[in-house]
Amino acid sequence: MSVITSFKKAAIIGAGQMGLGIAYVTALHAKIPLTLHDPSPSVLSSAHTKLSSLLNRDVSKGRITQSVADEALSRVTPKSGQVEIEGDTDLVIEAIPEIPDLKISLFELLGRTLPLESVLGSNTSSISLTKLAAAAGRKDGKSATRVIGIHFFNPVPQMRLVEIIPALQTSQETIHRAKEYGKACKKEVTMSTDSPGFIANAILMPMLNEAILVLEKGIATAEDIDTTFKLGMGHPMGPLALADLIGLDTCLSIQRVLHTESGDSKYRPSGLLVRMVDAGWYGKKSGKGFYEYP
Ligand code: CAA
Repeated sequence: MSVITSFKKAAIIGAGQMGLGIAYVTALHAKIPLTLHDPSPSVLSSAHTKLSSLLNRDVSKGRITQSVADEALSRVTPKSGQVEIEGDTDLVIEAIPEIPDLKISLFELLGRTLPLESVLGSNTSSISLTKLAAAAGRKDGKSATRVIGIHFFNPVPQMRLVEIIPALQTSQETIHRAKEYGKACKKEVTMSTDSPGFIANAILMPMLNEAILVLEKGIATAEDIDTTFKLGMGHPMGPLALADLIGLDTCLSIQRVLHTESGDSKYRPSGLLVRMVDAGWYGKKSGKGFYEYP
């Protein structure tokens, strides 16, 4: 059963792998017209091409008709350059890099410039929603009540979950609208309080880090670590391949936030992860991580 949302127009900020996936489910399943923003014209154009090929793949597999694919694509308007959100946008989802200062500046801008009725969502994996809400509410305290975490999983078209994370300041109405949007995107919704890593990354990140430590200590090869999880535990992919898929730079940023926020040494990133990111080996998106991606 499809869920109709109260949102009339969305803006997705950041056209990387998460922003692109969020645009896909928002346009195809929730049927909300949207603007997709990225400062880089080339990132934006590649996201639009990938969106089109994901929809064409759905058509060729008989999951949707050509006209449904065409309608979904026509709902997406790419916009490069500085972020300027149209005033009638009632849902914003931020999917920019996991860097606290970047997100805080963006939420200050959104809080100042968008009408109070619009919901300001963040796809953050680890950053405190309460901090982002405080940034949005700096000029007008009420503005903080419409900030909420709407956390999708990679690859967004495939993974059936959205974690919803209210800030301390978030209103019940914002929570209700965010849940409704998650369901309209055909996802199951779980709720977490605003605690470092929420549900998923509080558990996943230490596991990925332990796998990297096993590799770093020379206990086993990357292939044997991943095979252990795939065949011994029934995971769809091993932890090192998963870290490559998420992006090693993203894993490192998340672990740093978790380590700083919680003060718990279980979140301290392994030296190997730090060095790989220093080398520019970001995983699948850069062509090299624990594996090579031609
Ligand atoms: N984008 C879009 N679609 C993708 C994709 C991608 N990056 N990667 C794979 N797919 C699609 C394939 O095209 C294929 O689609 P069809 O049904 O049209 O054939 C489908 O997924 C299955 O792919 P494959 O047959 O190639 O491979 P698979 O069966 O092994 O599935 C997978 C691939 C879905 C990625 C699966 O391995 C999986 O579920 N892995 C675990 C992923 C996971 O744990 N994600 C969460 C990461 S944590 C996170 O995102 C949150 C965070 O904050 C860090």
